[in-house]
Amino acid sequence: MIVCVCKRVSDREIARHASAGMDFDDIQLMLGVATQCGRCEGCARDVIEKHRAAAAHYMHQPAPPVLGSRVFPILSAA
Ligand code: FES
Repeated sequence: MIVCVCKRVSDREIARHASAGMDFDDIQLMLGVATQCGRCEGCARDVIEKHRAAAAHYMHQPAPPVLGSRVFPILSAA
């Protein structure tokens, strides 16, 4: 879906940048969203907030186990 008609920026493009950790100001500078008529700003901010929250959630998850790996005890030379 196109969020910014003036600059022809889609929600997917905004989401991709937000998931990479960019905030509204960064995305506005990078893509030009909300720099002409400004009608898209609220929608763009909603997309950014949703995807930044999702990205933050996944960044705090433990890493998945590596299949096929083995853990060997550390041998100490006492
Ligand atoms: S619709 Fe985004 S600046 Fe006009």
